[in-house]
Amino acid sequence: MPDHTAPNLPPDPPIDEPAIHRAAEAIRRCLDDRGTIAIVTGAGCSAESGIPTFRGFFAAAGNEAAARLDNDPDAVELPLWANNDPIALATPQGFARDPELVTRWYDWRRRRCLKAKPNPGHLALAELERLAHTAGGDCELFTQNIDRLHQRSGSQTVHELHGSLYRWRDLHTNEEHELLNPEPLGTYPPPAPDTGNPMRPCVVWFGEMLPPEVIRAAEHAVQSCTVFMSIGTSAVVYPAAGFAEAAADRGAFVIEINLEPTPLSASVDITLRGRSALLLPKIIAALNGT
Ligand code: OAD
Repeated sequence: MPDHTAPNLPPDPPIDEPAIHRAAEAIRRCLDDRGTIAIVTGAGCSAESGIPTFRGFFAAAGNEAAARLDNDPDAVELPLWANNDPIALATPQGFARDPELVTRWYDWRRRRCLKAKPNPGHLALAELERLAHTAGGDCELFTQNIDRLHQRSGSQTVHELHGSLYRWRDLHTNEEHELLNPEPLGTYPPPAPDTGNPMRPCVVWFGEMLPPEVIRAAEHAVQSCTVFMSIGTSAVVYPAAGFAEAAADRGAFVIEINLEPTPLSASVDITLRGRSALLLPKIIAALNGT
């Protein structure tokens, strides 16, 4: 039984083996041409590491089950989060209204993610990057996730579209600090270690701009990729949601992996219905001819 975040997980949909092989063939052609693979991942890619998603079945169920599954000592805090809309907390207005609640929430997520482990989907994407580099090609991974599980699974080129739970910045000096200790931060908002000024997480909140250097890298990858993969994202939050369509518009081969249909599904070359931790290793196995 896979280690899932949701208690009563729906059964896996049937695996579309021919589609898996078509996806692997498209990737193989790209690698043989020393081409670029561009990838966007979303919360669904980390769902099987016990990190709840924002939308869909694995959001609320994920929160409840994830806390129960790993006997999270912070589970007692769960009702606090279950009664708060995560999307409302992830805004400058939410932070201005209640900096303690918002930084407590991010600290709770930071500690959950520190305890989480990369799942087979993360490891498969790190392997895909290795295959691309060995073939003389490139693999640019853009993640909307702020958990750093891609980096911890061995992916070298990871662009964090929405920032990171582990980087916090001084509200007055903008100096950034890595917070990697597993204990609760204790004071909310937490004080900067050097100035004592309050800090906020270096994550992109609704209404804030994405890091310009990441946008430039994404625009370059969208324009230069031969294969584009959209994995575990509801494809409703821009600009990330627009990358796959832009790649498709210029003729890239677009592969989507998701448990459910998304607004993107109708315009991709292959949409694989299922869990990324199950399907990505199957694509790698097909690539390696095993
Ligand atoms: P969402 O929670 O919106 O969507 C998660 C997607 O993953 C859904 O389409 C699920 O069907 C799918 N999914 C769930 N489990 C899966 C699995 N095991 N395998 C494959 N797919 C699975 O998450 P995102 O699309 O990442 O932004 O959300 C985008 C942004 O909205 C987030 O980065 C965050 C949120 O507000 C900010 O915080 C700025």
